[in-house]
Amino acid sequence: MDLLNRKYPLTRMRRNRMKSFSRNLMAENRISINDLIWPVFIKEGTNKTESIKTMPDIFCFSIDSLISELEKPVSKGLNAIALFPQIDAELKNNKGTLALDENNLVCRAIKTIKSYYPDLGLICDVALDPFTDHGHDGIVKNGAVRNDETIEILINQALVYANSGCDVLAPSDMMDGRIKIIRENLEKNGFHDTILISYAAKYASSFYGPFRDAVKSSKLVEPINKKSYQMDVANVNEAIQEISLDISEGADMIMIKPGMPYLDIISKAKQKFGVPTLAYQVSGEYSMIMSASKANYLSFENVLMESLTCFKRAGADGIFTYFVPKIIDIIE
Ligand code: PBG
Repeated sequence: MDLLNRKYPLTRMRRNRMKSFSRNLMAENRISINDLIWPVFIKEGTNKTESIKTMPDIFCFSIDSLISELEKPVSKGLNAIALFPQIDAELKNNKGTLALDENNLVCRAIKTIKSYYPDLGLICDVALDPFTDHGHDGIVKNGAVRNDETIEILINQALVYANSGCDVLAPSDMMDGRIKIIRENLEKNGFHDTILISYAAKYASSFYGPFRDAVKSSKLVEPINKKSYQMDVANVNEAIQEISLDISEGADMIMIKPGMPYLDIISKAKQKFGVPTLAYQVSGEYSMIMSASKANYLSFENVLMESLTCFKRAGADGIFTYFVPKIIDIIE
């Protein structure tokens, strides 16, 4: 690098910034539809489009409504969606048994979406929280979330989803050792090509509040505490160890979550491991940008594009974002 030898006025950094043609030429990162994954909420019923109180302009769709809703984004080149079920309260129990039912909402959604959009990548969370009445991601005994007993269930949930035609399984539970056991079980059952995205560095964040409202797994006023399995927001080294373990256990891609407040983690992980790295712009980030924009405190399109570009700059290869339906009208 010649940085130290370059001096004003022979070097004027503003020359390249002066006109839009040169700004465009030297831009290091650009967002395209190829970078985006749309997380969607689904529920039982037909012709349902229900709003979510804490997430302006986001809806929970019945499967048939989602099929129509996907038409435009898919025609614009959307590669993948992530499915999140809102399960009726009376179907939840303390073990999340419904997660293993091959006719559950997620499995039916996978099959129907695949029949309409065979090339659209389908990503499903492997975790029990939408199905448990306590809202935890695993089995709770004596007030503690049990690691190994939870994995025993998750390996079957993973299999049930893979069997329904899910392309990508995304364990989001943060139990120790689950990637290895899920991977081995997939291999044993002939699912050699199922991709595992590990929520490798998932923090015990308060930015998930609106999501838990959307899947009705926790009340905002008495937020559920997941600190015994999700990571302390204060830690970096722990994230690097988590990611390293998940890669060695067989994860194909890693995810860091939440997104924007954790760009340092994305950047470090990408530099250190160089594996496909995804970021999740979570529900709380979505709702912050939306509410500030609706109040005219922020300029919506600019802030949205800036937030996504920053993910790419930090090193994210792909971004889960609820903004997909809005972005496709902004980017060319
Ligand atoms: C469930 C899960 C959560 C999110 C994705 N999968 C919530 C949680 O861990 O409590 C959060 C997504 C968001 O906030 O947008 N394991």
